[in-house]
Amino acid sequence: MSEEVKKGLEGVVVAESELSFINGDEGRLIYRGYEIEDLAQNASYEEVLYLLWHGELPTRDELDAFSEEMAAERELDEDVLDTVRKLAEADEQPMAALRTAVSMLSAYDADDSDADPTDRESNLRKGQRITAKIPTIVAAFKRIRDGDDPVEPREDLGHAENFLYMLNDEEPDEVLAETFDMALVLHADHGLNASTFSSMVTSSTLSDLHSAVTSAVGTLAGPLHGGANANVMKMLKELDESGKDAKTWVDDALDRGDRIMGFGHRVYNVKDPRAKILGEKSEELGEAAGDTKWYEMSVEIEEYMQNEKGLAPNVDFYSASTYYQMGIPIDLYTPIFAMSRVGGWIGHVLEQYDDNRLIRPRAKYTGSKQEEWVPTDER
Ligand code: ACO
Repeated sequence: MSEEVKKGLEGVVVAESELSFINGDEGRLIYRGYEIEDLAQNASYEEVLYLLWHGELPTRDELDAFSEEMAAERELDEDVLDTVRKLAEADEQPMAALRTAVSMLSAYDADDSDADPTDRESNLRKGQRITAKIPTIVAAFKRIRDGDDPVEPREDLGHAENFLYMLNDEEPDEVLAETFDMALVLHADHGLNASTFSSMVTSSTLSDLHSAVTSAVGTLAGPLHGGANANVMKMLKELDESGKDAKTWVDDALDRGDRIMGFGHRVYNVKDPRAKILGEKSEELGEAAGDTKWYEMSVEIEEYMQNEKGLAPNVDFYSASTYYQMGIPIDLYTPIFAMSRVGGWIGHVLEQYDDNRLIRPRAKYTGSKQEEWVPTDER
């Protein structure tokens, strides 16, 4: 057996999937055959979920039924809401709070926890409930933390619109609701990214869907993955406050050995197509508000990183200024990523259960193979 180490599993193909395809040289992303640009322009997040989980776009009736079923699952059990309250009051990090709350959802799920964990119909129902409840958890956490009462979900609003309503206790205007829905569409799936892979590893042991999603939330939280979007905004604000020009600020950061968040990608060698779409949104929001400062600053950094360092922006780069201009608190950017990517996690877990084999790679042992045992008191 070869002992060649593929650090970070770079380039290793471990599964077949029909969910999403990435061409990293062309900057192309498709979900089940549909170009991301088409989906961003035309599809709602609910439509994308249906596509990912059921394999084809829904008819109008199918979409209505699917959306209604999911909207009816938004409310949290009192015990879960109570836990969210305790976590917010204990000043827990939003992603850690989400991880704990998602894990807790299994105790209150209507499907029997003793049932076959690989049962597709049961997992589709559980998946709908988890996806429906994540926005309620995130919004409730934010409101309680800020000293406000949580806002009950409304069934008559779409997934994206309802989240913004619960967050601000006010129906969002159409532009904000559509922008947010589009951001959810863009983040829904992306091949075997780290958090998705984590959900697959968990489900490959025939553990249950809630465990798989809980693992994935924990994996998404890190700054090299979903945590990057919040760090991009912190960087833009630091740059703004420093009074330096973007080039000098970036150079200083690189000289210190820091990574510039929102740049580089394991799969893309060119600009991430999602960054293109979100960049346009960031510009539009700035123009509508009469201040394109955050967009312009981002473009300056992008040009410098691309020309001088050969690194292109990933999805997290322009989502930061987009969310900021929508008034969303910075530490909710990663939970929002989870709110969307849960669709991909569940899709990949369903695929994993359908054709399961335990995921279990090996390490090349580099430790000692010849030590003599010395009794504890003689060391
Ligand atoms: N800033 C500065 N240098 C970078 C960056 C960056 N953002 N990204 C990569 N590089 C450099 C590395 O220092 C390395 O240089 P070296 O070969 O001279 O040491 C080279 O580019 C290759 O980088 P790796 O870390 O080996 O690439 P890898 O594929 O392992 O990492 C990753 C990809 C983690 C995304 C990396 O580009 C990074 O840290 N980016 C910043 C964090 C980020 O934006 N994460 C979000 C990714 S998208 C997503 O998860 C939604």
